[in-house]
Amino acid sequence: MIFRVTPFLSTLNRPISSRSFFRTMTSVAEFKQAPHKLLVIPGPIEVADEVLYANAHPSMSHVSPDFIPVFGDCLRMTREVVLSTEGQPFLISGSGTLGWDQVAANLIQPGENALVLHSGYFGDSFTECLETYGAKVDQIKAEIGAAVSQEAIESALKSKKYRLLTFTHVDTSTGVLSDAKAIAETVKRVSPETLVILDGVCSVASEELRMDAWGIDVVLTASQKGLGVPPGLSILVASLRAIKVFESRTAPVGSYYASWKKWLPIMKAYESGKTAYFATPPVNLIYAYHQSLSTITKKAPSLEERFELHRAASKQIKDTAAALGLKQLALDPAFAANGMTALYFPEGVSAGDVLPKLGAKGIIAAGGLHAEIKDKYFRLGHMGITAVDGQRGDIQTVTTALKEVFAAK
Ligand SMILES: Cc1ncc(COP(=O)(O)O)c(C=O)c1O
Repeated sequence: MIFRVTPFLSTLNRPISSRSFFRTMTSVAEFKQAPHKLLVIPGPIEVADEVLYANAHPSMSHVSPDFIPVFGDCLRMTREVVLSTEGQPFLISGSGTLGWDQVAANLIQPGENALVLHSGYFGDSFTECLETYGAKVDQIKAEIGAAVSQEAIESALKSKKYRLLTFTHVDTSTGVLSDAKAIAETVKRVSPETLVILDGVCSVASEELRMDAWGIDVVLTASQKGLGVPPGLSILVASLRAIKVFESRTAPVGSYYASWKKWLPIMKAYESGKTAYFATPPVNLIYAYHQSLSTITKKAPSLEERFELHRAASKQIKDTAAALGLKQLALDPAFAANGMTALYFPEGVSAGDVLPKLGAKGIIAAGGLHAEIKDKYFRLGHMGITAVDGQRGDIQTVTTALKEVFAAK
């Protein structure tokens, strides 16, 4: 039975917390989202019923004593997801792009050098963002389907002093996975003062990522991909080293909304159980995020098992595609993401031939995004519950649809 969550109309006149009102309205066990096509683009992804139910929490004051610990828990669980013990999380209303603005506004000063590793579309956008704040950016561009080599990184780092290096852990336009551990090791060896910035919008909670152990200074991400929450939350964790660089900057922060001068006290206040206000947090989304983080960090499968389940789901999709003669953009399995797959169309076939047919089979896939080859390929996402909850049968649904659509070609 489908229950639609509607705002609670009180007929009681005794005071009671809105949370318990919510629980009397209907139960999470009864709530089912409406039937819909399977969303397997590389984000936003399918969201679990209990997360959508949490999002339907009655309106709450962002400074209420009931909400503050929920926000505080989200900060603590965000650390757990990126495997950091001391990193400083920032949870701010916005999308993944706001993470770039936070880095560009707070961690680099006008005129300082940034090195951007380019493994697809998102390297260009991060570059543009850094330049907007006055950084001088050099890019190292990998060929399409590859990640930048350690040799190229090493020689660039030897050529000049970079305040920071950025890379896209999984570039959503190509499905290329960069070796975060190796990149951080190269930077530490060749230019230890350079901050290592990881764009994890398409990797957090779906790809193995160990912020502290690998020495990553910033992990930035968003709610709508591996974390399994609707879009709208910019999520970033900064190392204490990155916070020191921010605190010792001499130039003013070139942004009002993205300034850590504003947000750092707010995050610290929420985590210590106090109220503070700079700009209204996305209260309902925080409830949804809390639900998803609780599942990821406290329930089975564990985070480590999740990484493994994403690898297994990815292998099934990629093996099926290979058997159908479809070639991946990723040139080498070592560069292939586990939360998504980018596949070239066969010769003479276009998005217009394939995506509507997948749609007719109940599958929403995404077209190409990389400007140079945009019309030549399509993308499938397999993150979050689609990869982890085998009972849903999503991977089977996708492989069956691929076989039906491409076998008929
Ligand atoms: C790797 C990567 N970085 C950054 C972004 C930007 O995130 P958003 O669209 O949430 O602003 C995206 C979006 O898909 C992405 O895939």
